Amino acid sequence: MRDKKLIVANFKMNFTIHEASLYVHRLDEATTSHRDVEMVLAAGFLSLPSLSMQVDHRKIKLAAQNFYWRDQGAFTGEVSATQLKGVVDYALVGHSERRHIFRENDKDIRAKVQAAIRNDISPILCVGETAQERASGETNDVLCDQLIGGLSNVTGEDMARIAIAYEPVWAIGTGKNAVPDDVKRAAKAIRSQITHLFGTGVADDVRILYGGSVSLDSASGYLNTSGVDGLLIGSASLDSHIFGSIVKAAHKKGTKKA
Ligand code: PGA
Repeated sequence: MRDKKLIVANFKMNFTIHEASLYVHRLDEATTSHRDVEMVLAAGFLSLPSLSMQVDHRKIKLAAQNFYWRDQGAFTGEVSATQLKGVVDYALVGHSERRHIFRENDKDIRAKVQAAIRNDISPILCVGETAQERASGETNDVLCDQLIGGLSNVTGEDMARIAIAYEPVWAIGTGKNAVPDDVKRAAKAIRSQITHLFGTGVADDVRILYGGSVSLDSASGYLNTSGVDGLLIGSASLDSHIFGSIVKAAHKKGTKKA
C-alpha cells in the first residue's frame, strides 16, 4: 500500500452539487491516472451520489467527510456507512472539526472506524494535538491516546485498510503549517504506537498522511519527508488546479519508507 501516495482533498462544507461536478470535470482534464498516486475527494454528502456516477473510480476515488456509526434505524438526519457503501471508498473519521465543534469522543470515533470497516469503507483516522498540548510537550501522548481510542477494537488485518492522518489542530485552516521535521517526528511516534498495538509488519505498511494548511508550495516538503505517505488538504484543495498540481508533484516523488 505504501508504494501509493494518498492525496485527499477535504472540501468541508463547500461547493454546491453543480460546483462539485464542475470541479471534478476540471480536475479530470488536468490530471492523468498514476499507479503510484491515489487521488481522493472528500466531497459533501449531497454531491457524492452524482460524483460517483461521474468519476472513473480507477482515477478519482471518493470519501465521506463523516457518517453515523449505526447501520440503520431511527436516527433522524444521519447518514450511515451502510448507505455510503458502494458510493465512497474512504471516509474521514475523527477530524478535529468533528472532535471539537461536534464533540465527538474516542467512543464515537472507535465505533465509526468499525462501522466503516464493516461496510467495506477505508477509514482515514485523523489525530493531532492542540496548540496548548503541543506547548506543554504532550504531542506524543495525545497521538498515542487518540490512536488507542480510535483503534482499540480493530484487528491487525483491518489495519490494512486504515490510513492515519496527522493533523495538528493548530495547523488546520490557520495558515500555520507544521514543518516537515515536526511531521517526521509525529509520523514516527504514530508508527511506533501502531507497532506497539499491532506489530512491526502492520506498522510498516500503514499509510500516514499529513494535513494542516498544506499549500502548493509546502506540499513537496512533506512528500519528501520519510514516513509520510500522503496529504489531507483542506482550503488549498478547493482550487482544482492547485489540487491537480499537488497530485502531479506526488507522482514525481518516490515513497520514502521509514
Ligand atoms: P486546511 O484543512 O488544509 O485548510 O488546513 C486541512 C483539513 O482540515 O483536513
